[in-house]
Amino acid sequence: MVARRAGARGRLSAMQFLSPFDPGIRAATLLLLLLLSSLLLTGLSAAAGECRSEHCSREYERSRERLQLVERPEPNTCRLLGAFSDCMRKTKRACRGHLYFHTNMGIVERTFRKYDCRRILAEAAAAPPVTRAPPPPPPPTVPAPLDDSVCSYRAAAAAEPVVCSLFGDPHVRTFGGEFQTCRLLGAWPLLDNAYLAAQVTNSRVGSDECATAPTKLTVIVKHNEPCTGQLTYEARANESLPRAFVDGAVSSGARSQHSAAVTTLVPGLHVAITVRHINATLEIRRVAGHLSFSARLPRELAEQPEARRGLQLCSRGCLQRERVDYRRVLSSVGRVDAVHAGRPVVLTAELVTDMCRQNRVIGPYLDACVFDALSTGKTAFMEAAREAQRDLERLLPQALRQLPNRTRLGSPVGGAPGRPAAAAPLLAAAAALWVLLRR
Ligand SMILES: *[C@@H]1O[C@H](CO)[C@@H](O)[C@H](O)[C@H]1NC(C)=O
Ligand SMILES: *[C@@H]1O[C@H](CO)[C@@H](O)[C@H](O)[C@H]1NC(C)=O
Ligand SMILES: *[C@@H]1O[C@H](CO)[C@@H](O)[C@H](O)[C@H]1NC(C)=O
Repeated sequence: MVARRAGARGRLSAMQFLSPFDPGIRAATLLLLLLLSSLLLTGLSAAAGECRSEHCSREYERSRERLQLVERPEPNTCRLLGAFSDCMRKTKRACRGHLYFHTNMGIVERTFRKYDCRRILAEAAAAPPVTRAPPPPPPPTVPAPLDDSVCSYRAAAAAEPVVCSLFGDPHVRTFGGEFQTCRLLGAWPLLDNAYLAAQVTNSRVGSDECATAPTKLTVIVKHNEPCTGQLTYEARANESLPRAFVDGAVSSGARSQHSAAVTTLVPGLHVAITVRHINATLEIRRVAGHLSFSARLPRELAEQPEARRGLQLCSRGCLQRERVDYRRVLSSVGRVDAVHAGRPVVLTAELVTDMCRQNRVIGPYLDACVFDALSTGKTAFMEAAREAQRDLERLLPQALRQLPNRTRLGSPVGGAPGRPAAAAPLLAAAAALWVLLRR
């Protein structure tokens, strides 16, 4: 029934896939989900880790955004639909009894047929390739580009990379690899060296006195002839991430071989700023209505003498008085009245831990995930920890491998070290609520 309703929607407008992050909840669907949840339990617990249908929809949406594609019967749409369908088919076995999977699979297949994609793709494959006019020659006034090596980073010794990140209700991972949870209000420097400066502004989240999260990030690539003039990038939590620096440029220009550049990874949600002459990569994301930040620099540039560290969060973490012992907070937390998609829910540490485990966060990222959901009452915040863990995995895979692969909450600092998780039984009530929350 649910599938048919969604299917009808799919026919009326452009396709709308059921997304786990879709805030819209319909009362009827909710009731049905409640009734169905017990039936789904077997499927859920068997396939909880493996069903990748959510990944397939996200990939589809990402490609669609990247190509700025409006769905209609034409080859590009059909190719994406085909890829989506293949992706879903690969995960079919793991998704047995998975509502999102069956609904989305139905919609994809119907749309593929409705657009007559088989014919469109066959015709596109038969058509001769379009020949393009050669690009016009560049105007003669442009100065010759610098030699590629001029703005390339040359390390004195082995250039070991280090990573700093800031995410959620804010958690800092310092260049030294220490995780902290901080109560930061107002503007704080993240890093500041001869080439690069970054600053974050934190504001309160909801009504809780203690919960704060990043709402503004400013990055300054400092003037460094001949590789770049000064460039400023500004991100605000309430706006799409800009595709360019404040002056409208996306890079320091062809002459410097674009040594400093902004690259959009997911439009409005994820950008990277690369500074080639110091081999630095900064990534900014908008997650759950807030910002997160990661930076990878060669260690020799990231490390600052004690006297020059100032209050830089990436080098020295937050001040003692701003630190929150989140493990202690978590060990004493009871039930938290929260709001999910405009509806009241009751969260407990156990339930949220289960939800975070499904997001595959481990060690300190698991703690952060649970802490953020409980301290802000916003379940969407759990995404911040997951994305931060993914950023670390991409920017510095060896650092993620060194983390304890722990899937239950850490003990309070000074307490017994967390033991590896015994697979916790998924309670019926928890699973039902999990299904509801994922709507
Ligand atoms: C730049 O950093 C990356 C990532 O750490 C590293 O693989 C690469 O070797 C570095 N390049 C130079 C020129 O140091
Ligand atoms: C976002 O917030 C800033 C200040 O907090 C404000 O100046 C700006 O107009 C806001 N933008 C939108 C789109 O609401
Ligand atoms: C943690 O362990 C699980 C199960 O052994 C494995 O699937 C997962 O990839 C590990 N995660 C990391 C980040 O090492």
